[in-house]
Amino acid sequence: MQRDHLETIARFKKTVIPHPQYVSAFEQIVQAYELNEQVGFQQNLICIGVSGTGKSTLKRKFYDQYPVIQTELGKRIPVLVIDTPSIPTVKNMAEAVLLQLGDPNFNKGSAIEKTGRILNYMKACEVKLVIIDELQHFIDQGNKAAPRQVSDWLKSLIDNSGASTVLMGLKRSEHILEINEQLRRRFSRRVDLKPFSIANQESFWDFFRVIKALDSVLMLPQPLELSEDLVHRFHCATNGVIGYAVNLIISAYQVAVRKKQDGLNLQCLEQAFTESIWLDGTGCSNPFNPSFKEKSLTKFWEPFNSLPMTECEK
Ligand SMILES: Nc1ncnc2c1ncn2[C@@H]1O[C@H](COP(=O)(O)OP(=O)(O)O)[C@@H](O)[C@H]1O
Ligand SMILES: [Mg+2]
Repeated sequence: MQRDHLETIARFKKTVIPHPQYVSAFEQIVQAYELNEQVGFQQNLICIGVSGTGKSTLKRKFYDQYPVIQTELGKRIPVLVIDTPSIPTVKNMAEAVLLQLGDPNFNKGSAIEKTGRILNYMKACEVKLVIIDELQHFIDQGNKAAPRQVSDWLKSLIDNSGASTVLMGLKRSEHILEINEQLRRRFSRRVDLKPFSIANQESFWDFFRVIKALDSVLMLPQPLELSEDLVHRFHCATNGVIGYAVNLIISAYQVAVRKKQDGLNLQCLEQAFTESIWLDGTGCSNPFNPSFKEKSLTKFWEPFNSLPMTECEK
């Protein structure tokens, strides 16, 4: 692939479209940060959304906006970002936090010693906001007692550190708040990242603008002709999830480059859908095929089977 095409793909992967839900979630996190930074007030938030709606993107952008700074007095870490280990325990959670704080001895000492070190580092590094991603790992594990222990540990860490905290995860993460009342009281503020809906006019046009914006990042000579019918097709092809839209458009771009086309059209989107979203999505099962009858692809053999929205994502 030519250098300019690779650059286009790199630029596309880096671009964040500031759609209204994203901006609103970002602003709420800024507020939690500023309240802590300016007046020492602890404001906690829980951010819930199905996979691909942009939670980790939000986390990364926030970290970029408030990066680690090396000062004469030492390191300042205004925002501490933690990814929950896949099977969290007090030990590996504490180690993950110490690692992010730059402790070379992150795996040394008892759980109590580690927690003490975390609090010292957080004070010294002036941590104002902690973001904990992949919260669902707390409840994905078989051991019934562990979520309780780790969530109790997390609660004391939040209380003792005084930093604002944002918890992020799939819908089933909320269960952690159901089993831990003390944590629930601290996370009554909630911000959701939902898939775009076409049943709602406002969300439909937000989705329209997201697709338009993604296409314009490609800077192809011929902009995508985005009719309302095509937005419906995009919605069926992605279930309204921005992560799928990003994958679909990047694949369509590659098809367009291969076919030496000036812009994206129905044919390259049709091919991109089978290449990047659903291998079996051909003919009338492909939202970009003229014979496709509008419907959500949520049967159990289809890519957005209803399990993620009901059972799996709980
Ligand atoms: N606002 C956005 N603008 C552009 N791309 C986005 C946006 N939000 C998410 N994405 C893309 O969607 C994909 C999934 O996003 P991610 O943040 O990992 O979702 P989640 O953490 O909710 O599963 C990533 O490739 C990311 O680059
Ligand atoms: Mg994520």
